[in-house]
Amino acid sequence: MIRIAIDGPGGAGKSTIAKLVGDKLGLEYIDTGAMYRAVGLKLNRERIKPDDLLSISNILEETSIDFANGKIILDGDDVSDIIRTQEISKLASIYSQIPEVRSKLVDIQRKIAAGKSVIMDGRDIGTNVLTDAELKIFLTADSMVRARRRYEELRSKGVKANLDDIHEEIKDRDYQDMNRKLNPLVQAEDAVMLDTSDMTIDEVVNTIVAMAARVSCN
Ligand code: DC
Repeated sequence: MIRIAIDGPGGAGKSTIAKLVGDKLGLEYIDTGAMYRAVGLKLNRERIKPDDLLSISNILEETSIDFANGKIILDGDDVSDIIRTQEISKLASIYSQIPEVRSKLVDIQRKIAAGKSVIMDGRDIGTNVLTDAELKIFLTADSMVRARRRYEELRSKGVKANLDDIHEEIKDRDYQDMNRKLNPLVQAEDAVMLDTSDMTIDEVVNTIVAMAARVSCN
């Protein structure tokens, strides 16, 4: 059994890389950011403010979230596509600071991963969710490189975008994710740092696959 934890800032390519490594190694891929996005979507739809902790607890009790077959399912509906906006990125980063939200999602994440080989990506996987993961990677890239990748992605979809605005948003989200009180984004002591600023997707995938092979041999 191998569990691979991939953490790092937004836009570092975690989901793309984790999906490809998962396919190559036959591991189930779990995108924990998608879960925080789904909660952001629901609380925003219900017009619940981040400081209304009682309503958040109540709503969370009657909310079901699952990540299965690469899809994020919120209360029975596939919301995989509609959670990918800049607005939901911001909301996910804000609502993910709330202890009630984190404890519910971390419980779900540990249950999904229990007893099987997985590759899970997020912000606190190596430091909190799967502290005993066999391989931990801290995937990062220069903030301008991440902004440019996001900008190209939007442009390729025909969406109008401004590079400087995207760069500012990425830096704001980094700050929020790294400075929140509970389980902030930080490199685990036993994680390997991979800076992908000058690497291609193939290079990153092959590097992680080789590391996983070494772990499996030990
Ligand atoms: O990885 P992402 O961009 O889809 O994540 C969206 C937000 O969710 C991110 O800004 C912080 C939060 N998040 C978190 O707090 N813990 C995780 N394990 C994954 C995401």
